[in-house]
Amino acid sequence: MPQSKRPPDSLSKTKQSSKPDKIKIKRNTSTTQNNNNNKNTNNTNSTNNNTNTARNSKNYTTTNPLVLSQFKTILNTFQHTFSHLFTPELPQIIQSVKQSLYLRDYVAAFDSPEKLQAYVVRWSVARALAYFEMISGHWWSEDVTQIFSTSRRLRVTCVGGGAGAEIVGITAAYSFLRSSSPSPPPPSSPSIGVGGEDVDTGLDLTFLDFATWAPITDSFYTTITDPTKESNFFLDKSKISARCYQQDVLTPLSDTTVSSMASADIVTILFTAGELYSQSPTATTKFFMSLHTITKPGALLVVVDSAGGFEDLDVLKKNQQGNSSGGGESGKVQPDGNIGGYKLGFLLDKTLTNREQWQTVVSQDAKWWRVPQELKDTGGYPLELENMRCLIRVYRRNDDP
Ligand SMILES: C[S@@+](CC[C@H](N)C(=O)[O-])C[C@H]1O[C@@H](n2cnc3c(N)ncnc32)[C@H](O)[C@@H]1O
Repeated sequence: MPQSKRPPDSLSKTKQSSKPDKIKIKRNTSTTQNNNNNKNTNNTNSTNNNTNTARNSKNYTTTNPLVLSQFKTILNTFQHTFSHLFTPELPQIIQSVKQSLYLRDYVAAFDSPEKLQAYVVRWSVARALAYFEMISGHWWSEDVTQIFSTSRRLRVTCVGGGAGAEIVGITAAYSFLRSSSPSPPPPSSPSIGVGGEDVDTGLDLTFLDFATWAPITDSFYTTITDPTKESNFFLDKSKISARCYQQDVLTPLSDTTVSSMASADIVTILFTAGELYSQSPTATTKFFMSLHTITKPGALLVVVDSAGGFEDLDVLKKNQQGNSSGGGESGKVQPDGNIGGYKLGFLLDKTLTNREQWQTVVSQDAKWWRVPQELKDTGGYPLELENMRCLIRVYRRNDDP
């Protein structure tokens, strides 16, 4: 399996404690816990209102019950899909994946289906929760939320999106927004549009990743389309497709990749842009520049990454010295904010908007997403769920001149 040259973001930047992951066999159902331990959420830019919750204020407040129910469904989806994994042995498997990733031994980290699945149930869950809230709560702009609510077929292509967070988070948002859409089409004519034309509704997801995550997305697809599974976001197979293609986006793009980009209403690059820059700043810049050619006018590009981890990339230094200070082509990540480095957000803005090919719709350099306290209070998930401080950029592709 082809592997990233650095560990998954969540691992490479967290302190690698020797403390093993714990699995809560017995659930804590107490709701009497004092909420003061919910630390404040600091939004450095609050231009987007989060309509789902009031968790971004100083004091802990409750999450909208419908949203909370969808959060719980997301957690159930991970647990049901990989139910066989939640045994007393799971912490050991997670620990072994963590250890191998820390040592950058990617072959050992993912040398069995159980290890791939262990990665997913441990690290993709919080991301799925976050992506659901970001979409349904307008974090990625009104436009993105609106597109999810409209009654036509929606196509989303996710770069670096094979590990499960995207398929679960995006599907959860899709079914949530469709079900709460103010004017659903009448049942007698479900597929007739305003002008009388047929409207094909549904969600087409494409995942492009250089690792072999297809068995994971296939498993989630099976859960989501299984009417017998306990899921708020069951979708009939006619309403959802999910394809995972192996593609290193820093190498020539296959015809399949290009055509999925060309038809996408939304392209996402979630917690992957920093990894791409760290592999090759030049190839990554080239990839971002090529997006204008291969996407359609009006397409939205959503980039989320860790704020402060991959934030500073030693590209300027490399250019000034004429060679890479880190050696070779790899960009050097400088979490300490080295003055020689460009910020990830700055690089993205410069690459995409300088020639007016894309316009910025949302620009947040550090916005906290936090695990709802209610999920913690009710022992909603047996493994740790982490808060995230995110860099968010959303761009709209301009029309061709
Ligand atoms: C930190 S993980 C993020 C996964 C997921 N997007 C999420 O938000 O949870 C980065 C992902 O990018 C993929 N990736 C890294 N470099 C890539 C490349 N050059 N081409 C395609 N995928 C890549 C990795 O395999 C991995 O699945």
